[in-house]
Amino acid sequence: MREKFSNHISAIKCFICHHNFHKALHVMHYHFLCLFSYFRCFERRADSFALCFCSMSLSISSGFISRFGKTDSKTANRSMVSLERVNANIIGTIVTDIDYAKHYGYYRYYRYYYHYYGTEDSSDNEQGVTFMARYLVTGGSGFIGSHIVEELLERGEDVRILDNFSTGRRENISAFINKSNLELIEGDLRSYHIVQEAVNGVDYILHQGAISSVSQSVENPILINDININGTVNILNVALKAEVKRVIFASSASIYGNEPELPKREDMKPSPESPYALSKYTGERYCQIFTKLHGLETVCLRYFNVFGPRQDPNSQYSAVIPKFIQMIKEGQRPIIYGEVSRDFTYVANVVNANLLACTARDAVGEVFNIACGGSVTINQLVKKITDLCGNNIKPIYKDPRPGDVKNSYASIEKARARLGYSATISFDEGLIRVVGSNL
Ligand SMILES: NC(=O)c1ccc[n+]([C@@H]2O[C@H](COP(=O)([O-])OP(=O)(O)OC[C@H]3O[C@@H](n4cnc5c(N)ncnc54)[C@H](O)[C@@H]3O)[C@@H](O)[C@H]2O)c1
Repeated sequence: MREKFSNHISAIKCFICHHNFHKALHVMHYHFLCLFSYFRCFERRADSFALCFCSMSLSISSGFISRFGKTDSKTANRSMVSLERVNANIIGTIVTDIDYAKHYGYYRYYRYYYHYYGTEDSSDNEQGVTFMARYLVTGGSGFIGSHIVEELLERGEDVRILDNFSTGRRENISAFINKSNLELIEGDLRSYHIVQEAVNGVDYILHQGAISSVSQSVENPILINDININGTVNILNVALKAEVKRVIFASSASIYGNEPELPKREDMKPSPESPYALSKYTGERYCQIFTKLHGLETVCLRYFNVFGPRQDPNSQYSAVIPKFIQMIKEGQRPIIYGEVSRDFTYVANVVNANLLACTARDAVGEVFNIACGGSVTINQLVKKITDLCGNNIKPIYKDPRPGDVKNSYASIEKARARLGYSATISFDEGLIRVVGSNL
């Protein structure tokens, strides 16, 4: 151990002498991670030391970057963010599991090494850990899936998309399709062989692929059953055989149905009222059964009215926000059916929830509401869009449509407590971003 640390110190000195502070920073960080791991292994009561060393590591490393680093501010910022993430992860594990923490320290180091230098640091990988995580995003060319893919690529992760482009669009992924760490498999969720190919070598599956239209599910329940339920069971079955670390399932607030009680909490009785809602509830139950029976780690996220760039305003089944923005921009009057309200959630919050769900320790087999935790009436929505677009278009009011849920908003307490989730982008901020973007 002593020899190992003196090697690290020499390496740090060497890099500093050669003015490669960025590299010194990484070696130093690794050094403290090692120290942390050893403390955790040999002495359980050393938690406070470990915590102290982690914090020291972060502050010293940050100091190197900001004071001496010969690097531009964007790179420095990225490094700072990465280091903070490393520290948060480690501190989060401190009082729980030694092996996990030890493994995680090495794992994060090797991933960041690869990210910054483009090569594997094979010199000192005594843990033999996999240094890159590989993610499969089903439905990755769709609205939400493409945002998840973009964020993962931004973080330097390896990503694979499985999509049949039934509602997904190639332009959603055109900005990053040529990245070397992205792979596209064009095929159907229901095919065992295609899913097997897509899942091969994957650590995490973010299962977004589905037909997500309530009205289409009413018209064609057999198709929705086939894709949303059989497709999900196919994913779980293959994931189990391939020993995938965790599957995150995109569920829906539609499961709550028309029950008037608010806010919606995860422990409320589900009351699905469309084939779509039922398919999502069945998907959740399948996830939980695979966790219970086989130990496959699954987490279900119930999304509430997601909005953001790339949502298709021209789709027959389009959501209200992109449709209203397009209409108001074109000078048309939007139609409001009764005074309903919704918990509109900007897509970046949903992306964040998916990534938190991959590693959250107290989340396996659980269901979480993913929303903003507030409610906006459709009237308020129209007013905000007209203000942002700078026109004064008045909506047309009609009677409520039968079957429409009147009001809905979520309790996000459980996600806050167990995933560390919060809606970092508010509804207003999200709306400004969408109106400003080219839908
Ligand atoms: N958008 C929302 O407000 C919202 C709310 C609740 C839940 N969800 C869920 O989130 C997920 C993503 O929704 P979205 O809004 O991005 O929808 P989307 O239609 O934009 O994305 C779905 C993707 O799945 C793909 N897909 C469909 N059937 C497939 C099949 N058989 N094989 C392979 N790929 C297939 C589509 O091509 C598309 O790319 C869905 O599971 C949806 O049910 C969305």
